[in-house]
Amino acid sequence: MAASGASAADALSAATDAFAAAGVDTPRLDAEVLLSELAGIDRATLVTDRELALEPAAARAFSEAVRRRIRREPVAYILGNRGFRHIDLTVDRRVLIPRPETEMLVELALEVDPGTVLEIGTGSGAIALAVADELPGSRVTATEVSDGAIEVAVANAARLGLGDRVGFELGSLPDGPGEFDLILANLPYVPDSDGLPPEVGQWEPEGALFGGPDGTDVIAEVLTGFGRAGIEAPVIGLEIGQGQGEKVAEMVRQAGWPEAEIRLDLAGIDRVVIGRR
Ligand SMILES: C[S@@+](CC[C@H](N)C(=O)[O-])C[C@H]1O[C@@H](n2cnc3c(N)ncnc32)[C@H](O)[C@@H]1O
Repeated sequence: MAASGASAADALSAATDAFAAAGVDTPRLDAEVLLSELAGIDRATLVTDRELALEPAAARAFSEAVRRRIRREPVAYILGNRGFRHIDLTVDRRVLIPRPETEMLVELALEVDPGTVLEIGTGSGAIALAVADELPGSRVTATEVSDGAIEVAVANAARLGLGDRVGFELGSLPDGPGEFDLILANLPYVPDSDGLPPEVGQWEPEGALFGGPDGTDVIAEVLTGFGRAGIEAPVIGLEIGQGQGEKVAEMVRQAGWPEAEIRLDLAGIDRVVIGRR
C-alpha cells in the first residue's frame, strides 16, 4: 500500500463519528467493514496498522460509501453483496437482505434431507440456493411475485453455478399441482403498523416486509392456496415474527399439517413454524 495517501486510521475515525451522528447502530463496525471491502485490506490490518495509507481510488470509493451510509443505506446494498450460509449473494434494493435467522429454514432442510423442495417468496434466492448448495442431491423450485427480485435470484443462481438444480417461477405458487418433500417460505410478516429502522423501512422493498394488520395475511393467503393449487408436501417450514407462533401454528394445522411445532431463535423469539403430516 502506498504511504502517501490519506491515513486509514483517520478515515475510519472520521467515518465512525459521521455514522454515530447519523444514528447508525454500529458505527465503528460499519466503517471497518466498508473500508476493508472497498480497499481490499483485512479488518485486522486496518485496526492494527496505524501508519497504513489508502490508495486514492480506495479513499474515493470509501468517501462515496460513507456518504451513502450516512443516509442509512444498508451496508449490504452499498457493497452489493451479503453472505448467507456458505454462499455469497448479490443484493440490491429489489430484494430483502437475507437475515441470519432465516438460516433456521436451511437447517430444517438439512434435517429433512429432501429430494425436492418448493420455496415460496425467494427474494435474492437465499434459501433456495443455500439448500441446493448444501444438499447436492436436491432440486429446488422457487417462486416470487416480484419481477425485480426474480431477476436478482436468477442471476445469483447462474453466478453460483446452481441454475441447473434451482428453477424459478414468477407468481405466488407454481403453475400446476405438484408433490414436494419439503416446502419452505419466509414471507412478509411485519405488522403494517410496526415502526422499522431507516435501513429497513426506507431501503428494503415494502412488498418483502409487510403482512397486514398483524403480519400474518400473506402467510394465510399462501397456506390456503396450497390446497386449491394441489401442492403437497409432508413437511412445511415457515419463518414468522415475534408473537405469531400460536396463530401460524393453527393456520398450518388447518391447512393440512396436523403436527405443528414452533421453534425459537437465539433471542428466544418465535421464528419458525414447522408443520408435518
Ligand atoms: C421476507 S422476503 C424473503 C426473501 C428471501 N426468501 C429471504 O429469506 O431472504 C419475502 C419475499 O416474498 C415475496 N412475496 C411477497 N408476497 C408473496 C406471495 N404472495 N407469494 C410469493 N412471494 C411473495 C416478496 O416479494 C419477497 O421477495
